[in-house]
Amino acid sequence: MNRKTFLKSIGAASAFFGIPLGTLANEQVSAINDAIKERKVNGNGSMVGFSIDPIKRVRVGIIGLGNRGKVLTQMFYWLVQNQKAEIIALADLTENKLDETIEGLKTHQKTTPKKYYGNKNEWKKLVERDDLDLILITTPWEWHTPMAIYTMEQGKHVACEVPIAYTLEDCQRLIQTAEQTKKHCMMIENCCYNEEELFVLNMIQEGVFGDLTHAEGAYLHDLRKHMLSEEYYQDQWRIKHHQKRDGNFYTTHGIGPISNYLSIGRGDNYASLNSMSSREKSLSDAAKRANSPFSEIKCGDMNTTLIKTHLGKTVMLQFDVHTGSPYSRINKVVGTSAVHIGYPSRLYIDNPDDLKYWGHNWLDDNAYQDYKSKYTHPMIKKLKDISQEYKQGHGGMDFVMIYRLITCLNLGLELDQTIYDGIIWSAITPLSELSVAKNSESIEFPDFTGGTWETKRELEVMRDLT
Ligand SMILES: NC(=O)c1ccc[n+]([C@@H]2O[C@H](COP(=O)([O-])OP(=O)(O)OC[C@H]3O[C@@H](n4cnc5c(N)ncnc54)[C@H](O)[C@@H]3O)[C@@H](O)[C@H]2O)c1
Repeated sequence: MNRKTFLKSIGAASAFFGIPLGTLANEQVSAINDAIKERKVNGNGSMVGFSIDPIKRVRVGIIGLGNRGKVLTQMFYWLVQNQKAEIIALADLTENKLDETIEGLKTHQKTTPKKYYGNKNEWKKLVERDDLDLILITTPWEWHTPMAIYTMEQGKHVACEVPIAYTLEDCQRLIQTAEQTKKHCMMIENCCYNEEELFVLNMIQEGVFGDLTHAEGAYLHDLRKHMLSEEYYQDQWRIKHHQKRDGNFYTTHGIGPISNYLSIGRGDNYASLNSMSSREKSLSDAAKRANSPFSEIKCGDMNTTLIKTHLGKTVMLQFDVHTGSPYSRINKVVGTSAVHIGYPSRLYIDNPDDLKYWGHNWLDDNAYQDYKSKYTHPMIKKLKDISQEYKQGHGGMDFVMIYRLITCLNLGLELDQTIYDGIIWSAITPLSELSVAKNSESIEFPDFTGGTWETKRELEVMRDLT
């Protein structure tokens, strides 16, 4: 067995069967760095700036019609009605989920999607169809990478739910496949399209924050009820990860918008991280009270990960889905002339000419609203009417995300997020697990972009697509 095959097998095994990850951390990261160098030598070409010919009406297949798949299908209603997209086929394990989705789609689309169901590999037949452009993957985490890779190999573009991968090996394999097949592979991170995050991003781009130094994000969401329910997630897939692993499993809602703020992949990149998990108490307690068989939990109640960029900016990222902590993504960003924090959204603006205004006070409501109306992202203003009329999904951001994805394909433009973005944001999960297992030791962040991050470029999400 050569070194890479050995690492691959032991990497997968350690993730699932409890071989101490810590002993493998440095080897895993250097194996990934070797593979990235090899990718460059083989000259598959970067996917930065990648676009395809315009697709007038995007033909879509969707795999996984559970909680998320159903909501995302509704985000297509306006697009299918306006001939921008057509949903051609749907796949799930069971037929009833497909029928529910088809019932909702009926009043918006004349044609009825074909159905694939009955066993765990039936989705492959959907992907193999020759009348599809884009496959949307909204299945449990363990299916994301195999489904995305097979889709690209079958000549279709991918839009995949978060996280797109949760092992370093899978991160590398996804990039390699996209570079080889020349297919779009976008992780659909919806919080990057939320009104508050886009407002903050617009202010940063317009110079309101000065130079950025620090940001904080999180996924604090009490999921005990959902994870312990036998009905909510198919086969209770989510809690099983909490039984076997320890780290930050849901990084992207916090780190996606932050990475846009910090221009990650476009002039800066993450260099290293340290991660620490608290002890576990709350999910196992809840499981015992609910007489659930899932009472052995490995993942700590609170994971805190600190990340440093090559240019010296810092990020704190937290993950807690075990406790009753009210929902928050924190959404804090600090610059030399302004600070924002979310939940609820507050803004501090420095007054460089008057010491008495330094520090301490958030803007009052009127001053905040002045900034809000001046810096609301143009994309939000433009799409407000449509997203209010149709089902919005998480307050509108899901519609905006799907609208932007399909519009880029209609116009033949680069997508808002490259494959490297989705991978960098997802890779924090396995890197956090490695650091937690090594007593919070600093772990080097592999350069998944193969060096392209060093070149400054505009954020695609700031483009006006009209
Ligand atoms: N971005 C967001 O805001 C957001 C919100 C919720 C969920 N998600 C993500 O969406 C994904 C799905 O989460 P969910 O809550 O909908 O879970 P879920 O369990 O409700 O749905 C998953 C669906 O996938 C189907 N499925 C499983 N294996 C399959 C296979 N081999 N072939 C075909 N279908 C298969 C299941 O039958 C189920 O209907 C997860 O990755 C989750 O992280 C994202």
